[in-house]
Amino acid sequence: MIKHLRSAGDLDAATATLILDTAAEMAALSGREVKKLPALRGRTVVNLFYEDSTRTRISFEAAAKRLSADVINFSAKGSSVSKGESLKDTALTLQAMGADAVVIRHSASGAPHRLSNWVDGSVVNAGDGTHEHPTQALLDAYTMRSRLGRLDGLKVAVVGDVLHSRVARSNVLLLSTLGAEVTLVGPPTLIPLDVVAALSKTTKVSYDLDSVLPDSDVVMMLRVQTERMQDSFFPSAREYSRRYGLDVTRMRKLPEHAIVMHPGPMNRGMEIAPEVADSPRSTIVEQVANGVSVRMAVLYLLLGGK
Ligand code: NCD
Repeated sequence: MIKHLRSAGDLDAATATLILDTAAEMAALSGREVKKLPALRGRTVVNLFYEDSTRTRISFEAAAKRLSADVINFSAKGSSVSKGESLKDTALTLQAMGADAVVIRHSASGAPHRLSNWVDGSVVNAGDGTHEHPTQALLDAYTMRSRLGRLDGLKVAVVGDVLHSRVARSNVLLLSTLGAEVTLVGPPTLIPLDVVAALSKTTKVSYDLDSVLPDSDVVMMLRVQTERMQDSFFPSAREYSRRYGLDVTRMRKLPEHAIVMHPGPMNRGMEIAPEVADSPRSTIVEQVANGVSVRMAVLYLLLGGK
């Protein structure tokens, strides 16, 4: 087993499949009245969140607690980070406390890599800048596999603000490893062709959502990340929504069995219409539930739980 999960590229097909299979076993637990396993009793997991998060932070906390680990939640707001403490000094503090795993979210791409040089425990990337978010890709793959029965040969359209999306990068890497066919769709200004080429040779690009939908098993909508945009990448929100938003009329172009995904948080009415987000095709709430099982599997396997 690998020691850290810093990138979806750390995972070969066998390791990724082992994580998904282990997550399925963990999911069986959530149906029980007592949702706890003693697997990580006595181990310490630190959640180190320098960026805002709802789903990912809660989900890692629930995952570690269900495995009986001791959990320390650290958020940059209200800590010595606001006094200017560096990541390295914070890491040395965690090291002194004997953290077995550090789950980190940071606005700087590459922060988890740096951190893994400073601590002895396992490092899990919970989102670093615009770079990667490997556990999101794992929970997305888990959701696709449980809804559609397979990943190999699955046609997945990832739509929207690819440029700023760590979710898209990790999905391209993991889905390519697992044999799915990914097409990135969005305005040319939001699809970095050089990055796409470096990530995967098989990933396709399209600027026309309507032509991609009829041939997709999965459509994954990305949030338009205005907080990361220094320039203007499209004429207006309305124009963006008209060309790349998924509304009910567009959703009808999908094959009968196709599912609609979104990592959250959503801009309802921008990249996705409320009626689509709340439709039976949408797996958005399921993705959140699956996130706990997948993160349990990741912590369990990285820490060699028994
Ligand atoms: C994503 C993230 O933070 O990268 N959200 C998440 O983790 N569920 C996507 C986003 O912020 O749009």
